[in-house]
Amino acid sequence: GHHIHYCELTTSTNELAKRLAGEGCEDGLVVIAEEQNSGKGRLSRGWFSPFARGVWFSVVLKPPFMPQEASKCTLLAAIAVVKAVNKYKGVQASIKWPNDVLLDGKKLVGILTEMSAEFGRINYIVIGTGINVNVPKEMVPEELRATAVSLADVAREPISRVELLADVLGYMEELYEKVLHEGFKPVLEEWKKYSSTLGQQVKVIAPDQTYFGEAVDIDEDGLLMVKREDGRIEKVIAGDVSI
Ligand code: BTN
Repeated sequence: GHHIHYCELTTSTNELAKRLAGEGCEDGLVVIAEEQNSGKGRLSRGWFSPFARGVWFSVVLKPPFMPQEASKCTLLAAIAVVKAVNKYKGVQASIKWPNDVLLDGKKLVGILTEMSAEFGRINYIVIGTGINVNVPKEMVPEELRATAVSLADVAREPISRVELLADVLGYMEELYEKVLHEGFKPVLEEWKKYSSTLGQQVKVIAPDQTYFGEAVDIDEDGLLMVKREDGRIEKVIAGDVSI
């Protein structure tokens, strides 16, 4: 029974959700658009969001977390999406830390978490999720063609975007409740089950340095722990990890 703010076209559901959150909307508001003409990705990239071809949405949360725990929300969203998409026949997606959902090594889903915090407290978190449902290859911009995938390219059954959204939201709610009542531990364990990052050699491009190492674990706040060649363990807060 959450409110859904639906629109045919918006710039970015994250931008709209942040505006509504700033105006004091309730915890759990969902903003969804058929099309975004200025969809946002991480690291100042864009997100291709053509009309009725995907599930482009954002959820506003007001969790009782510290700002440094915000990445828990990203992990939780990734698990929810993987559980929902993996129900389709022939689909086995996995999570690349922190926020990519990959299918056959290509990007099926992107998640962009944005936060507003003041005086060490979170005002709100916006979790924006984009699921490529049926974006035909010829529609995909040239530079993304090799790395993007749609659910319809792989699933061996028809996909209803409404059902998919309802399923993802159901899992998100379940996982969020679990974090609130049982803590992050059980959710983290579930995340590890779907992870394609742990145990891999990774290249970390952090804001201030680039290095190689092995992704060994995720800490209790959802940060990736990478063991460098000299044995030191680094916690990755932000940046890009490639396998
Ligand atoms: C990424 O992988 O770079 C993150 C992409 C996030 C895309 C989604 S689509 C819905 C929401 N609104 C946006 O503008 N971005 C997110």
